[in-house]
Order: sequence, then C-alpha cells, then structure tokens
Amino acid sequence: MKELKVSPIKHGTVIDHIECGMALKVLKILGLTEEPPEDTTSVIIHVPGSKGCKDIVKLENKELKKKEVNQIALISPDATINIIRDSEVVKKYRVELPDTVIGIVKCGNPNCITNFHEPVEPKFIVESRSPVVLRCAYCNRKLEDVTANLL
Ligand code: CTP
Ligand code: ZN
Repeated sequence: MKELKVSPIKHGTVIDHIECGMALKVLKILGLTEEPPEDTTSVIIHVPGSKGCKDIVKLENKELKKKEVNQIALISPDATINIIRDSEVVKKYRVELPDTVIGIVKCGNPNCITNFHEPVEPKFIVESRSPVVLRCAYCNRKLEDVTANLL
C-alpha cells in the first residue's frame, strides 16, 4: 500500500519536536488561527516516533521572529527550529527558554502592577523548565495557565 507523506518544503521553517498535541497552540502563537497563512502550511499532529509522539509545523516562505520562538519555548521546550533553503536544512537550533521571561505572557493576578496602566512590562522568573513554571517578579504569583496568558 502506498503511504502518504507530508511533502518537504522548499524555503521556510520547520518547527519539529513540538510537544505532542501542542501544534495548534503554536499556530495560535504565530497568529495563524486568526489570519490564515498565505503560503503552504502543514500541521502534523501525533506523529509516532522512537521517543513517543510529536507534532510538526511546516511553514513555506516564513521566518520566525525571536519573540515567537521564545513563546514556542514556553509551551514546547524541546522544539527545534529548522531553516530550509533550496530544500536543505541550512540551520537547526533548539528553542531556548531564558531565565527570565519579559513581555511574552501576562500575569494572571488582576491586582498585579503589570496589569495596571503604568508602563510596567510583565516579567517572570523561570523556576522550572520541565514542567515550565513561571513566577511573577512583581507579585510573586505562580502563572497557572501559560497559553491562556500569552500576549
Ligand atoms: N524538512 C522538510 N523539508 C525539507 C527538509 C526537512 O520538511 N526540505 C523537515 C523534516 O521532515 C524534519 C525536519 O525538517 O521534520 C528536520 O529535517 P532533518 O534535519 O533532515 O531531520 P532529522 O535529522 O530527523 O532532524 P532531527 O535530528 O532534528 O530530529
Ligand atoms: Zn504579577
């Protein structure tokens, strides 16, 4: 029987080793759930592999911004970013969660100073990477739902 495979891309970015089931959240981070992409985009969910399962997102003709990569690190710390040119992987790197996360997620505490009108950017200390645990540098509250609070 002929097996159907998702095509390789020519130019663009492959986000590989996304935590199983998180691909749709990656699309949300990239703004593609509101504004559909203009170029070919493949989303593969639950790809079985040697280390369990993973998701993959393939974006033709797209490069990621640093902020988007950091946001992906928050929800999928083992993801890899592969830059493709002329169908070859020319660069591969793992997303990396910094020690502090500034301006990417907002604090869940409505009384936190970062949720008032003063120009105070939200800042979190990364307490743990696996699982990701963030604590607000201002009010000390632990962030319960990272994805729901993405800026
Ligand atoms: N890929 C693609 N189009 C290309 C080249 C690669 O879609 N023209 C995809 C591959 O399918 C894979 C990812 O980009 O999902 C990384 O490719 P590659 O480095 O060749 O695969 P691996 O060596 O298996 O990567 P890793 O070691 O990071 O798992
Ligand atoms: Zn706070």
